[in-house]
Amino acid sequence: MDKLWSGRFSTNSAKILEQFNASILFDKKLYKQDIIGSKIHAEMLSNIGVISFEEKNYIIGGLDKIYQEIEDNEFNFKIADEDIHMAIEKRLVQLIGDVGKKLHTARSRNDQVALDLKLYVKCSNEEIRVLLLDLINTLLSIAKEHINTIMPGMTHLQHAQPISLAFHLLAYCFMYKRDVERLVSDNDRNDYCPLGSAALAGSPYKIDRMFCANKLGFKSPTFNAMDSVSDRDFVIDLLYSISMIMLHTSRFAEELILWSSSEFNFITISDSFATGSSIMPNKKNPDVAELLRGKTGRVYGNLVALLTTMKAIPLAYNKDMQEDKEAIFDSIENVTICLKVLNSMLKEITINKDSMLKKAKMGHLVATDLADFLVQKKNISFRDAHHIVGKVVAYAESRGCDISELDESELIKQDSNLCGAKEILDLEKSMNSRDSFGGSSVNRLKEQIKIIQDFLNEQTK
Ligand code: ARG
Repeated sequence: MDKLWSGRFSTNSAKILEQFNASILFDKKLYKQDIIGSKIHAEMLSNIGVISFEEKNYIIGGLDKIYQEIEDNEFNFKIADEDIHMAIEKRLVQLIGDVGKKLHTARSRNDQVALDLKLYVKCSNEEIRVLLLDLINTLLSIAKEHINTIMPGMTHLQHAQPISLAFHLLAYCFMYKRDVERLVSDNDRNDYCPLGSAALAGSPYKIDRMFCANKLGFKSPTFNAMDSVSDRDFVIDLLYSISMIMLHTSRFAEELILWSSSEFNFITISDSFATGSSIMPNKKNPDVAELLRGKTGRVYGNLVALLTTMKAIPLAYNKDMQEDKEAIFDSIENVTICLKVLNSMLKEITINKDSMLKKAKMGHLVATDLADFLVQKKNISFRDAHHIVGKVVAYAESRGCDISELDESELIKQDSNLCGAKEILDLEKSMNSRDSFGGSSVNRLKEQIKIIQDFLNEQTK
């Protein structure tokens, strides 16, 4: 019997048990974290005199050799070894003999796996942040070029009020900014090292958990061993934060799909980021944006899957928790490729300014301005003003034109109070009139651009 835990067993594992139980085919991703965790653990054991200095050096030498084997694709990952932790330990004993068997003193796979995954999550959190900052930077540079590019702002997907493309893109900058901040706070909240919690109740050895926590880059050790080996909040936090990033990405993707259709024609996606149809030679499809939207579903699925897996597990570790890995690995992989591809696609997008402006002249976008004119200049209540402008809109509709195309005499014919209103029926004026804090005016846009720019500078310094 070749299992590291087989002392009390009298027969070998069934093959199907091995297959079912094993996580090695996916948790091999954790090899770096497992090796660094083991090296620090060995160092700590030597510091407190549980193993000798020479033994520690043998162990570290062996672990470095294993690291190299894995990097060079020379490591044999076997289902029979169950998981990455057992596989590495077994190989260590093969390489350096019985000394290797001392490594697992004062440690359990329960704190080991919690540590490995925490280190992995922490590092992925930082990598995703870098991608987000890159994306915000791209959005911001497009926004800066389109402060005066007028387009219809919408609610209910109906033309509502004139805005600029910059204002619309800045909305996404602020969403992604919150996503970065959410990741920062996730990292901060979970920055405690579980190593040394052992199976569930800590260890009888005089272990130095502070040393391990410091060396592994954590704020401090975790405070309750039982919590530490049972906790997967840190994984769920990242799954949630990724879900939110994907939610924002999916809404943006949906808009890119709409905007690139002939109905909108606001943008043209470059040929290198579009696909063709196998039957219709005329087609150019926004597959990239559709996949960004589509992949959001599986990312939510991973979040709900782990929430559900965890909800009724008694303390402390249970094997159910092994299900955490495929979920988090999948979400990390997908959000990573999605952010990269969105960023690259945006850099090559063409903005069809004329078409945006043409569409902004449809749908009576300045109707609210007309009502505000009646309130501010003619002392009419907003409700009455709304009604008067409603009649003007109906008139324009009957003529088949936009209210901005009506001349002064036609306006006055609808209501004498509209005398002097013609000059406010201008898209740019309308956009700039919304000068309230956070509004669409060029003034306010400049403030918003500065907030995002300062944020980027601070995050990347
Ligand atoms: N492969 C396991 C996992 O991913 C490692 C922890 C196993 N611990 C145990 N006591 N069986 O969760």
